[in-house]
Amino acid sequence: MTATVEETIVEGEPPLPPVPAEARMVDLKIYRFNPEDPDAAGFETFRVPALETDRLLNLLLYVKGYLDGTFTFRRSCAHGVCGSDAMRINGVNRLACKLLMKDLFPKDPSKILTITVEPIKGLPVEKDLVVDMEPFFDAYRAVKPFLMTSGHEPTKERIQSVTDRARFDDTTKCILCACCTTSCPVYWNEGSYYGPAAIVNAHRFIFDSRDEGAVERLDILNEVDGVWRCRTTFNCTDACPRGIQVTQAIQEVKRALMFSR
Ligand code: SF4
Ligand code: SF4
Ligand code: FES
Repeated sequence: MTATVEETIVEGEPPLPPVPAEARMVDLKIYRFNPEDPDAAGFETFRVPALETDRLLNLLLYVKGYLDGTFTFRRSCAHGVCGSDAMRINGVNRLACKLLMKDLFPKDPSKILTITVEPIKGLPVEKDLVVDMEPFFDAYRAVKPFLMTSGHEPTKERIQSVTDRARFDDTTKCILCACCTTSCPVYWNEGSYYGPAAIVNAHRFIFDSRDEGAVERLDILNEVDGVWRCRTTFNCTDACPRGIQVTQAIQEVKRALMFSR
């Protein structure tokens, strides 16, 4: 089915807003899945207007707001901070709120752009673009992503040098969007692999000079589903919307396992 903005009224949906003169038309080819009718799963195309300054998220909100209120996806902050709108866009994991239309439009303005939008891979789809994130968060929780210390509560701040703080600066930037883990071919084939996001979050504490849980976390990541499953294909690094050197972090954990114990 193709729904277009030429229809001024969509049954059961609010009237369409006026289309700005400078808008260009885009075909959004979106994966639809309804657990109450799984056999009908497949792509549905919506033709929507887009401005150069729009992010893909604006177009998805247009579909939901004006064309089909049953369309389901996650988003919250709309500014690349919460990590909830990870999706597979033209075959690549991205955050819909960080993808500017001006970077996708073809040079020829008469050409209609088609964008394919699917749920991230490797996690069970619940509805349309919404996946069950529990297996992802199970792996995250398994590496104990919190400060572990012994002894009495300190009476003042735990001091850390600038150099020691810099050691794990990159991996503190993770927003748990799952773009990395769900672009990993090993994770697609072996869902029991902890995956790059869990390792990034273990790295953040393993290399924190204030933490005392490194040995415990390294033991966990030394298991059969830990870091040794990584094949160093860099998909995860390419997918990370925060620019984290994910594969490098995994290599550093591997080196810590080999040489620091
Ligand atoms: S580098 Fe390792 S963790 Fe990252 S995508 Fe490749 S196999 Fe997966
Ligand atoms: S490492 Fe990057 S891609 Fe992976 S969950 Fe964190 S922010 Fe997302
Ligand atoms: S909506 Fe929060 S990161 Fe995109």
